[in-house]
Amino acid sequence: MEQWSREKRYQKLEDVDAKVINDLKERVQASPYRQVFHIQPKTGLLNDPNGLIYYQGQYYLSHQWFPLGAVHGLKYWFHYTGKNLVNLKPCGPILKPDTTFDSHGVYSGSAFQFQNQLYYMYTANHRTASWERRSCQMLAKVNSHGDVIKFDTPIISGPPKGYTHHFRDPKVFQREGYLYALIGAQRENLTGTVLMYRTSHPEKPWTFLGEIDTQLKSFGYMWECPDYFQLNGKDILLFCPQGIDSEDNAYQNVYQSGYLVGHLNFETLTFEHAPFVELDDGFDFYAPQTFLDEAKRRVLIGWMGLPDTEYPTDDEGWAHCLTVPRILTLESGELKQKPHMDLRKLRQNKETALGYANKFIKQLHPYEGEQYELIIDILENEASAIEFHLRASKHEATVIRYESKTQQVILDRFDSGKLPHPVEGTARVAQLKSELSQLRIFVDTSSIEIFCNEGEKVLSSRIFPSKDANKIKVVTDSGQVYLKLTKYDIKKQIED
Ligand code: FRU
Repeated sequence: MEQWSREKRYQKLEDVDAKVINDLKERVQASPYRQVFHIQPKTGLLNDPNGLIYYQGQYYLSHQWFPLGAVHGLKYWFHYTGKNLVNLKPCGPILKPDTTFDSHGVYSGSAFQFQNQLYYMYTANHRTASWERRSCQMLAKVNSHGDVIKFDTPIISGPPKGYTHHFRDPKVFQREGYLYALIGAQRENLTGTVLMYRTSHPEKPWTFLGEIDTQLKSFGYMWECPDYFQLNGKDILLFCPQGIDSEDNAYQNVYQSGYLVGHLNFETLTFEHAPFVELDDGFDFYAPQTFLDEAKRRVLIGWMGLPDTEYPTDDEGWAHCLTVPRILTLESGELKQKPHMDLRKLRQNKETALGYANKFIKQLHPYEGEQYELIIDILENEASAIEFHLRASKHEATVIRYESKTQQVILDRFDSGKLPHPVEGTARVAQLKSELSQLRIFVDTSSIEIFCNEGEKVLSSRIFPSKDANKIKVVTDSGQVYLKLTKYDIKKQIED
């Protein structure tokens, strides 16, 4: 493991020799785990998606970025633009840590449009000489040349009384002529919550309205990356609580990411809601953000990684990627997540097959690959359990198991290759409400995203198999299944 002193962690990209960066780029390019259709850092570490918006005919997408290695160091916003959500062009950093306020990182935030102008609100992270955290919220505006210009002074200067400096990740939205900002926060009693601010003009003072009064009074020590939107007339609050203990199959990852559905009273800030539901049942999912696409569909993109975890690519000088974009809908009180239709633009070389599978493991021919979309329709199922082995070789397999009786989909990384650590267990479980009828799976060089029953549940995970682990196999415990398989190859899409 590379050693990172505090000085090295907080070194600016601009102060580093071009040769050091080039050597790092070469190291990263030699990695066997580079993705082909996911957004990943060309060097260093990526985390949260930031500033997602469709604005004047283009998508704008940024992410948290520490360029110099696979650690959470001095954060920038790295930026992409594009006409659709799969052919995005890297544009370099747009927000850099170059003021006293953000001297220790331009942290997460969001984009919004106001009077035809594009704005960003983000958290400026500062550490005092005694290494105490100071957080405030800053504003930036995009000028007519496309340059992002920061305002000199914070628009929200610090946490209100009663809250600590864990005060970050503003998500701005519009409602009935006002702009609102939600901010992830920690109360002085060290419990997490979300704060709400409001203004009539982004450059005028923002008034603190209070906490969103949920029924979760003590649910972890910090809530990161809040988001709010409406679907079918219901209010939905997304956030990432930290410090929740695991319970059976729930809350297995180090930090969680989930949502509340209900009714938010904007006068009293009281939120009547159903229980917290996790957004993703895989191993690697955190800090998602939503936005409206060109057809005003609600789209979510997450970080396919987690904090406080070492990944097999760390020693290669890079870490993490974003998830594919997913469309959110609300059905029977729960969010459904379907792959965004722009992903169809990636499809090449369609192959289909119909066939029975039983307890004798069968390699599905000619199905193999490292980067593909695979749709499995389960047409008849008399098996007690079915297993699909992807990225499989003699010694490795990423196993997706469906148990008919319990209606559970289980993702098992036990034999999937190298593993991140520390990570609790090697399996993750998604509980379906009905029988499994379809899996739609996106496999990239080092990730897998599994959409069950048209988005009833999703499991997103990084996997680190060997290059020769490229087979697709199926087997049942007993009994047979009748399957339809459709596979599309996916070729390199996003420039590094
Ligand atoms: C979530 C997070 C945010 C913060 C950012 C810093 O992963 O911790 O709360 O703004 O990452 O990179």
